[in-house]
Amino acid sequence: MSGWPLRFELVHLTGTTLVILATTLSLIRCIARDIGGSRQSRIRPTEERVLIIGASSGLGCAVAKRYAARGARLCLVARREEQLSNLARECGEKCFWVVADFSNVEDMVRVRERVISEWNGLDSVHICAGVSAVQPVMSLAGVKPDDENDASNTDIQKAFNLAARATQGNFYGPFVAAVTFIPLITRTSASPSILLASSVAAVVPAPTRALYAATKASSLLLFQSLAIEHPKITFTFILPATIEGNFRASAVDADSATRNAGPNQHGLKVDYAAKRCVDSMDKQVRGNVVIPWFPYRIAQCLYNIWPSLIEGQARKKYNFR
Ligand SMILES: NC(=O)c1ccc[n+]([C@@H]2O[C@H](COP(=O)([O-])OP(=O)(O)OC[C@H]3O[C@@H](n4cnc5c(N)ncnc54)[C@H](OP(=O)(O)O)[C@@H]3O)[C@@H](O)[C@H]2O)c1
Repeated sequence: MSGWPLRFELVHLTGTTLVILATTLSLIRCIARDIGGSRQSRIRPTEERVLIIGASSGLGCAVAKRYAARGARLCLVARREEQLSNLARECGEKCFWVVADFSNVEDMVRVRERVISEWNGLDSVHICAGVSAVQPVMSLAGVKPDDENDASNTDIQKAFNLAARATQGNFYGPFVAAVTFIPLITRTSASPSILLASSVAAVVPAPTRALYAATKASSLLLFQSLAIEHPKITFTFILPATIEGNFRASAVDADSATRNAGPNQHGLKVDYAAKRCVDSMDKQVRGNVVIPWFPYRIAQCLYNIWPSLIEGQARKKYNFR
């Protein structure tokens, strides 16, 4: 019993220290960014050549509209043709679109050839495409929480196939896009910039999101390593919490109820998340941008130093006992 007040004091002290440290570091980053000079002095907004992968809905679509509003040159990419052509019409004459799967090498090379023939180069890439996954890991193999039976070959294979689809959408796609566009953007831009839409789930584990978290974390680490290997390119990683919209319907493991549930009305406004993407690239923010900063940045720090605290809270929230 007597250990409790001491433990509470320790949590309080650790929390306060983390908040002060994180605020100070953020301030230093902002000042350093402003001293560095703006990207728009090197590339005029109306001349910026912007490729948006995953533009047919949600975040990518909202990012495209922001660039169109300031007169940028736009290439929109996704698999759904109708959504792309409607958006391209809305974005105006400086916009073209290519139907392509970003995890398909031939498709991405075709996008690159079109970009070269239209613009002879590229300044900005926003990788917004991704797929969701919403089941607990053992449910992917049909094993219920209280099941004592082992999963069969068929069940494990089914889980494996779902994991492969999540990997295709969240790791191979960003990987193929990076390998396809890094030399072109380095060679042809005065300020080459690549933004990856990752997720807060990539840095704070969450039950029922394990497959999503694992595949988003793998592309995040890939790009963080690429940022070290390619210092001429500014790499920005946006890590949002839940955004309003239809993302859950894209889940590789969605049942019909999830697929037909309709758009999620909760979470970050998609326009706000898009603004943060465009602003972060304009300001040449390197590294992770967690939105909202509070409480997720704190949760990330706390998980590193005291995982059982975050695990316990998440277990309680999602009812895993
Ligand atoms: N929504 C959230 O709560 C949330 C939270 C944190 C992070 N994020 C991340 O934010 C990004 C955008 O999510 P969102 O909410 O905008 O979801 P969304 O509305 O489902 O949009 C996803 C986009 O990705 C495209 N896409 C998916 N697979 C593709 C493929 N193989 N090739 C080309 N395009 C593909 C889709 O287009 P087609 O289907 O037409 O190909 C669509 O344009 C994702 O990377 C997601 O992980 C979302």
